[in-house]
Amino acid sequence: MKRRDFVKAGAIAGGGLLLNQVSPSKLFPESSSSTVPIVVSTWAPNLKSNARAMEILLQGKNSLDAIEEGIKITEADPNDTSVGYGGLPDADGKVTLDAAIMDWGGNAGSVGCIENIMHPISVARLVMEKTKHVMLVGNGAKEFALQNGFKEENLLTEQSRQAWLEWKEKQTKKENHDTIGMLAIDKMKNLSGGVSTSGLAFKLHGRVGDSPIIGAGMFVDNSVGGAVSTGNGEYVMRTLGSFLVVEKMREGFTPQKACEFAIKRLYKSVKDFSDMNVSYLAINKMGEIGAYSLKKGFTYCLTTQKENKSVNSFSLMK
Ligand code: GLY
Repeated sequence: MKRRDFVKAGAIAGGGLLLNQVSPSKLFPESSSSTVPIVVSTWAPNLKSNARAMEILLQGKNSLDAIEEGIKITEADPNDTSVGYGGLPDADGKVTLDAAIMDWGGNAGSVGCIENIMHPISVARLVMEKTKHVMLVGNGAKEFALQNGFKEENLLTEQSRQAWLEWKEKQTKKENHDTIGMLAIDKMKNLSGGVSTSGLAFKLHGRVGDSPIIGAGMFVDNSVGGAVSTGNGEYVMRTLGSFLVVEKMREGFTPQKACEFAIKRLYKSVKDFSDMNVSYLAINKMGEIGAYSLKKGFTYCLTTQKENKSVNSFSLMK
């Protein structure tokens, strides 16, 4: 896209910063009670994870259980090369995982750079529920998981090992579709959120992204709504993107306009647009959805009792 076109696109999108505008995200004009339970997650391949989360909600369990069980589906999928088992490794060939979870009571837990544990989302939940802390990283996180009954497992699949060997030889960039971020509202109208990722493919060993940073990769406030991010976490961390989205919703923005605001804020911090993207997905207490991406191609999953579908997001750059 030429700079001239981009500025034009930005100007059009920029017209949406007024409060209380009618939003394209107003998918549920009916009363809020008809929208719950509801689950949204980043990226179309996660329909199966949403379906599992909805199954949990329809059993009458809470949104935290739904988030954990839904995300575990993606974490266990060897064909998803950006989350959990089968995730592309770092530059040293090690699969290192980040995850976070947050509930309607403002409680949060996360793990960063954890190795050899299939379900970092469950470890994040244990950090939240069993410790006084919010975040554990590296070997400390792994030891905590092992002490709590998790198994040590090799998460590097042959497919991901081959991709790493190829990268080492050619040093070419690898596009992968990135983090699962999920938000769910249960029948009690309580909201929880979670994220899980193997982070950027072939990153420096020890790199931690936005996902386990509460307020960056995910944030939930039960009185307002929640947001999750996907894409290059460095940009999200610098702007504390998910917190920003929720705070804009608190001010009265629709989820759609709040996501647009956060992407435009982040846009100013990007010096090189090649090989990067960031997308936000948000939900408010009424079950209204917003999604916005810097570049096109972002998809998300929306699941209610009536449907389980993927949706194309709007983007700032065409
Ligand atoms: N958004 C995932 C990461 O940057 O690690």
